[in-house]
Amino acid sequence: MLRPKYLLRMSPALIDVVHKTQFKRHKHVLHTNIPQTSFLSLMHQFIQFKMILEIIPNVTYYKKPVFIHQGHMQWLWDVDGRRYLDLFAGVATVSVGHCHPKVTAAAEKQLRKLWHTTNIYVYSPLHEYVDKLAATLPEPLKVIYLTNSGSEANDLAMLMARLHTGNFDIITLRGSYHGGSPQTMGLTSNSAYKYPIAIGLGCHNTMCPDVFAGPWGGSHCRDSPIQTIRNCSCPQGLCMANDKYIGQLKEVFATSVPSRIAAFFGEPIMGVGGAVQYPKNFLKDTYKLVRERGGVCIADEVQTGFGRTGSHFWGFQGHDIMPDIVTMAKGIANGFPMGAVVTTHEIAASFGRGVHFNTFGGNPVACAIASSVLDTMKEDGTQQISHEMGTYLLMGLSKIRDKYEIIGDVRGKGLQIGVEMVKDKASREPLPPAAMSEIFEDTKDMGVLIGKGGVYGQTFRIKPPMCITKDDADFFLAVFNQALNNYMEAHH
Ligand SMILES: Cc1ncc(COP(=O)(O)O)c(C=O)c1O
Repeated sequence: MLRPKYLLRMSPALIDVVHKTQFKRHKHVLHTNIPQTSFLSLMHQFIQFKMILEIIPNVTYYKKPVFIHQGHMQWLWDVDGRRYLDLFAGVATVSVGHCHPKVTAAAEKQLRKLWHTTNIYVYSPLHEYVDKLAATLPEPLKVIYLTNSGSEANDLAMLMARLHTGNFDIITLRGSYHGGSPQTMGLTSNSAYKYPIAIGLGCHNTMCPDVFAGPWGGSHCRDSPIQTIRNCSCPQGLCMANDKYIGQLKEVFATSVPSRIAAFFGEPIMGVGGAVQYPKNFLKDTYKLVRERGGVCIADEVQTGFGRTGSHFWGFQGHDIMPDIVTMAKGIANGFPMGAVVTTHEIAASFGRGVHFNTFGGNPVACAIASSVLDTMKEDGTQQISHEMGTYLLMGLSKIRDKYEIIGDVRGKGLQIGVEMVKDKASREPLPPAAMSEIFEDTKDMGVLIGKGGVYGQTFRIKPPMCITKDDADFFLAVFNQALNNYMEAHH
């Protein structure tokens, strides 16, 4: 069979050799080996690495960049044939697995039939998909608008909220990320993602109810198998931290916005902000106060949707709240560009006075893929995997937290997990960037990709494709423990 010169079919044995030689620089032998996969990767090496780095600035956040060549389920291969366990999923986006065979087949089938038309026409992939998506959401959230990204979805939600309420001001949580478009940059409350231009008119933020790092927190505030290391003496059913953070929101109402507002935007668990979880009733109390001021409540499910939190398909359901608008993207199409806004008939009617048009929103290929993603989630039981593997990882990580002074907090639900690193447990001050980077790079060099987040870049983020196994979780826990051990040995 003829093959291009740069393609080399690797046998599992060769993969193993490549893997062992390339990861051998580690002086410590891991107790767990990288789990086996029967998938054969194609390897090629014709890319001009240096040139790419010059053309695309910020292409990587590793000191030694990872040049990804191929993906399969929870695995990624670089151009040198090294295999990585991907626990970041292209930022919580590859929901059912890289190149999932079923989703890939659905994409190929649609590509042969119809690539593009717009929603000024009727076509079955669109109508089949919106039907399926609507079925995952409770009444009255039944009107769907399709976009191409999370920022676009949030832009649209801002516009809807303003048109529907006739008000302008929108409140978000400090430390949140809601997008990088000029409008959503105003919602995003993390200076790393802001530019010095005139943006954010009418956007305000309130203190993030962070029960680990914030001024108030305790030992049973959040909905997670793991609580913070802080103590509190709140009697059952009461949460002093919640009252205090709601007090901060009331201050914002009293000082920063008019008496009538357009909206509150919040993620059920923060994503880029570092998997921060709020006190259990915080969103419920916030929604009540926002509605009293004429505002609508918007759940940004770009990261937490599609079963990632394990207990529910939508993150907001874990807070016992009903948003007026839900925005989603990332995991919706397993990495194919897509986003959506779901709202009520009432809000859609206010918005419908103008023409909303989006050339690619609801593209047939995107819809066919997203539709197959929903089917695959059901068939593969991804929400259940999220719940089981998430809980297993959280329990394992909390044991590691107890071993190392530089791990302050382990938190999250399902496969939306954060590990907040500190100088020491008493101060809870963020571990400096150089130290974070050393542990991060070492974890990668041992074969696992994770993410970083938090306002000070102090939180490791674990949000894998929802197909990981117990062997993968054990491998990661061994690698992470080793990376921490290496760091402590080198610096203490
Ligand atoms: C919670 C949240 N909302 C919105 C966005 C913006 O999505 P996109 O990058 O697709 O525009 C992101 C992206 O990271 C996100 O995490």
